Amino acid sequence: MLKLNALRPPLSRSLSLTLHSDSVSPHRNYATSMSNKKLLFRQLFEKESSTYTYLLADVSHRDRPALLIDPVDKTADRDLTLAKELGLKLIYAINTHVHADHVTGTGLIKTKVPGVKSVISKASDAKADLQIDAGDRIYFGDLFLEVRATPGHTQGCVTYVTGDGLDQPQPRMAFTGDALLIRGCGRTDFQGGSSDQLYQSVHSQIFTLPKDTLIYPAHDYRGFTVSSVEEEMLYNPRLTKDEETFKSIMANLNLQYPKMIDIAVPANMVCGLQDVSAKPAEAFSS
Ligand SMILES: [Fe+2]
Repeated sequence: MLKLNALRPPLSRSLSLTLHSDSVSPHRNYATSMSNKKLLFRQLFEKESSTYTYLLADVSHRDRPALLIDPVDKTADRDLTLAKELGLKLIYAINTHVHADHVTGTGLIKTKVPGVKSVISKASDAKADLQIDAGDRIYFGDLFLEVRATPGHTQGCVTYVTGDGLDQPQPRMAFTGDALLIRGCGRTDFQGGSSDQLYQSVHSQIFTLPKDTLIYPAHDYRGFTVSSVEEEMLYNPRLTKDEETFKSIMANLNLQYPKMIDIAVPANMVCGLQDVSAKPAEAFSS
């Protein structure tokens, strides 16, 4: 039997974003039972905007590489302290989309942790170190997230899904941003939103995942923390409807103007900081 190290790709490859979704993992021989032991996962909450931030790390890898999905500026220090306490090496700060309800923590994190790269979709037109497209893989150690384009809430929304190999966490996990919320979905009346597109995105990119795939949204306002594809296909009050009914529901939500949008969107187009090259704060060592 091959040793673990012999199967591990060099670090430069493990950080690569350029592999396509149909490429074969070199780790398919790993026993299934090992897969969940690799992933360290934490769901974190920012109460003012009811935002979830997710910390994922490959703790079986010697560097314990980690990433944050949708960090918030106000809770960036909390998240960095946690990563430090857990002995993780943060390598990516990732957004599912350009948020309108809070300022992202990605720019701030970059000033505090040397080497962290910010990531957002190319379709968002926002500034980041790495702009990803549908089909890209974001590796952290031997684990990866697959990028799926799920526009409709905003034009650049993506869903990040854990890998589908036997060496990847099972069941799969989908970080859906605001495309699919638990028993809901993001609004479609700003930022290039389209109810038509959102309906297609959810049905073609999320509801086609295995039914036991866990749904981790960017927000929850009622205390839910996780759902599954199966649950949302059965009980989502909007997306279980036919497309015309869905469009009519979305057109008649009568929501207020988002109170943070005029501050948050311009800031989030540049990583949450108007000037990401501003004088770095004291380096955060992990
Ligand atoms: Fe949003």
